[in-house]
Amino acid sequence: MDEILKVTGLSKNFGGLAAVSGINMNIMPGELIGLIGPNGAGKTTLFNLLTGVYEPSEGLIELNVEGQKKQIGGMKPYKITALGMARTFQNIRLFKSMTVLENVKLAMHKNAGYGVWSALLRNGKFYNAERWIEEKANEYLREVGLYRKRNEKATNLPYGEQRRLEIARALAVQPRILFLDEPAAGMNPQETDDLTKLIRHLRDKYKLTVILIEHDMSLVMNLCERIFVLNYGKLIASGTPDEIKNNEFVISAYLGEEM
Ligand SMILES: Nc1ncnc2c1ncn2[C@@H]1O[C@H](COP(=O)(O)OP(=O)(O)OP(=O)(O)O)[C@@H](O)[C@H]1O
Ligand SMILES: [Mg+2]
Repeated sequence: MDEILKVTGLSKNFGGLAAVSGINMNIMPGELIGLIGPNGAGKTTLFNLLTGVYEPSEGLIELNVEGQKKQIGGMKPYKITALGMARTFQNIRLFKSMTVLENVKLAMHKNAGYGVWSALLRNGKFYNAERWIEEKANEYLREVGLYRKRNEKATNLPYGEQRRLEIARALAVQPRILFLDEPAAGMNPQETDDLTKLIRHLRDKYKLTVILIEHDMSLVMNLCERIFVLNYGKLIASGTPDEIKNNEFVISAYLGEEM
């Protein structure tokens, strides 16, 4: 299997509603993927299927685990996380009364799955796990520009910084695939521009595959190499930013109102 992630005929029904319907996707390692579409199109539901929050009604989700295909659809979220899938949430989920640093350290403890433990063993620092976790947590905070604020309560950060803290928490599980659900929501143009650079930098530095949902078309078109468009649960188009911008179906379903 060359793909890092392969989705085949994936569907999720809620009662009579087909929130996600017959999706096929092939994602290559290191790609920067955008997932766009109108409100209610099924974007977050697709993330929830891929990260184990929901069990698929139909279809396969295959992850490349050391060259072998592994069907992860319906697996528990903590197991999927341990296989290298990390995410942020559309509605920020931080431990508000904990400090910035504690939030990242907790993510490492809670998700001490494959990535974290294998890194510890590789470094021969198993005996000193606590110190290693502290060092890594500080590294991720530096990456997202929050190191100076590490001892502040998460709840005291401005919104844009809380979103970046969520990214640091996701990095803490040492993912191979990073899922970002509307990372620029609530950010001003300068913050959005900084975020674009940050995501590209993190992809390169940590050799990540990134799949992000966004309504901010300037971010999507600048950053993403390939874009998938959902509408009423169905994939209506995929292609490069230029192909998507010029796709009639996409313009009438979505971009017409956004651009
Ligand atoms: N747990 C659920 N139970 C019932 N219906 C749901 C559930 N989760 C999502 N839906 C419905 O599925 C559809 C897709 O919702 P989803 O949140 O995936 O859309 P989205 O593309 O992420 O939209 P937005 O851009 O507004 O975040 C919507 O009609 C929504 O109401
Ligand atoms: Mg959503």
